[in-house]
Amino acid sequence: MTPKTFKIKSFGCQMNVYDGERMAELLGQQGMVAAPDGNDADLVVLNTCHIREKAAEKAYSDVGRLKRDDGSRPLIALAGCVAQAEGAEARRRSAMIDIVVGPQAYHRLPEMIAETTRGARPVDTDLAPLTKFDAFPQRRRANPSAFLTVQEGCDKFCTYCVVPYTRGAEISRPSADILAEAEALVDGGAREIVLLGQNVNAWRDGEHGLADLIRALAAMSGLERIRYTTSHPVNMSDELIAAHGEVDKLMPYLHLPVQSGSNRILKAMNRSHTAESYLATIAKMRAARPDIAISGDFIVGFPGESDEDFEATLRIVDEVGYASAYSFKYSPRPGTPAAAMEDQIAPAIMHDRLQRLQERINAHQLAFNQSKVGADTQVLIERKGKHEGQMVGRSPWLQSVHLETDAAPGEIVDVTLIAAGPNSMTGAVRAKAAA
Ligand code: 5AD
Ligand code: SF4
Repeated sequence: MTPKTFKIKSFGCQMNVYDGERMAELLGQQGMVAAPDGNDADLVVLNTCHIREKAAEKAYSDVGRLKRDDGSRPLIALAGCVAQAEGAEARRRSAMIDIVVGPQAYHRLPEMIAETTRGARPVDTDLAPLTKFDAFPQRRRANPSAFLTVQEGCDKFCTYCVVPYTRGAEISRPSADILAEAEALVDGGAREIVLLGQNVNAWRDGEHGLADLIRALAAMSGLERIRYTTSHPVNMSDELIAAHGEVDKLMPYLHLPVQSGSNRILKAMNRSHTAESYLATIAKMRAARPDIAISGDFIVGFPGESDEDFEATLRIVDEVGYASAYSFKYSPRPGTPAAAMEDQIAPAIMHDRLQRLQERINAHQLAFNQSKVGADTQVLIERKGKHEGQMVGRSPWLQSVHLETDAAPGEIVDVTLIAAGPNSMTGAVRAKAAA
């Protein structure tokens, strides 16, 4: 039977969120509608993440939970990076999976659904780049802050990471396609666009790099804010840094993962930067844009990480003074070089290091937020808050800001930040900003 309703559950990174939105639009174009919460959708797409431990196990248990009380179940599509990594194996491990579709094959989803009605159980993990974008329908509605994937894949081969295997080689979308999609997003209500890519700052179109794309987007009327994520330190070009000082619409926030503060570990991770070169990039960025909020990612317990290596990580946290950061225990991924390295770190040590690192990061995050108390700034309203009359939006530094206002999602309001918490700010409206 052809499904009439669908539900897409996305896990992992923002690129999966983006893909989930595009799949929903594609299924909508086929006449299907999004089902309300619960298990009653005719089709469930599990858009999975493979970056850290037990991702595959989690995906299979999520599949198992889709069985309904009466023994029936929806049509089930395993999508995303677990689908890419497992391929046909997924179907051997769970008889409930009808479709296996990798991240570059989503455009074939309608066809694959049709194949299941003829009794087939299709698998497509082809990594053919970019074709999916051409097949997705024109965008019509957008959140105030909208994601736009401009680059996919990775050629860096950090020794811990599955991305080069699940998302394929680095590939950039042409700028004309990106600008057309951005126009449609702005027409659909977006005020901010977040450019996405696993190595977004490696984006290229001929002679043009990400800084040029940002400048082109900044000329688009109706678009007020531009962000991009995630960047690799070696692709942080002088042009991109300069754009932060010159393009008003480019928000003062940079997510620049360092992973470790120890050069020995960075080398073993094949990161192709050092703690010193990373700090030099941050210094250049601050010279161009003094108020920039720096964010990052860290891995603790990489194979061979000594106490001294970990201390170097704590030091770099202090030296950078992160406005926010994400930190993870090292998780061996099948097929990656680091998984086969000797001297894997004991779970108790990892646990202890993660806790110490997170305490340090939280202290910096709170200090950053406190440093903004009293600042007059602007907030892009994104959604309703918990209380009547309360709205939640984002400051230029990507802080969540809670405020009392009758402004609607998509409006940009002049706000004074009046209080800081570890994870959010409170603001008071001065006046609605002129659009
Ligand atoms: N184990 C733990 N964390 C990882 N990351 C990537 N691969 C692994 C792994 N095998 C983290 C990195 C990366 C973020 C998206 O996830 O910090 O920047
Ligand atoms: Fe997870 Fe990486 Fe795939 Fe994103 S690209 S879903 S982070 S494995």
